[in-house]
Amino acid sequence: MHFSTPLTIFLSFTGALAAPIQLSKKAAVGTSASVLKVQTYDDFNVSGGVAGNALAEVNAKFPIDTNNLAGVAASDLAIITSAAQLSESAETSTGGFNDAIAAAGGTTTAAGTALQNGKIKNKVLKLQTDVLRIQIEVAQGNTGSQSELAGQQTKLASNVALDTKAAGQASTAIDFAGSD
Ligand SMILES: *[C@@H]1O[C@H](CO)[C@@H](O)[C@H](O)[C@H]1NC(C)=O
Repeated sequence: MHFSTPLTIFLSFTGALAAPIQLSKKAAVGTSASVLKVQTYDDFNVSGGVAGNALAEVNAKFPIDTNNLAGVAASDLAIITSAAQLSESAETSTGGFNDAIAAAGGTTTAAGTALQNGKIKNKVLKLQTDVLRIQIEVAQGNTGSQSELAGQQTKLASNVALDTKAAGQASTAIDFAGSD
């Protein structure tokens, strides 16, 4: 489901514009082969271990070529889009971080603090994948996404700062169903 829409858009985009004008641009930019594989949330989450390095951990899980966002494969965009949605669910849906923190007695307990650190790492995961989604969409001609970018970048920066502030503290992941 997540796969079909971006693929369709991509194909019609190249189909409509490929012929005369895009030939030289296409040669310069190119479309990368897909580099990501569909994974479960438990595979691509970064909430375990310790706080402090969330952004680098997220980028390691989604190693797309950020120098050629226009050429990111439609299947990779679909995976990134889905990962952002799934990590949002892992925060707010039943059995997600908010529930787990409440069950641990809030963020003042040791277990709750470690879960809060995991929640912040999960926010970095959610926001960085969403920023990537927007940047790819804009680079591929979907300028309607542009208006979302600054707000998400601001939220990302503030959660990266929180993660950095907690550097070295224990961080707890949650088991959460679903795959991107
Ligand atoms: C992701 O979540 C699983 C399940 O809770 C956890 O065991 C694992 O350590 C997490 N992975 C990372 C890299 O944080």
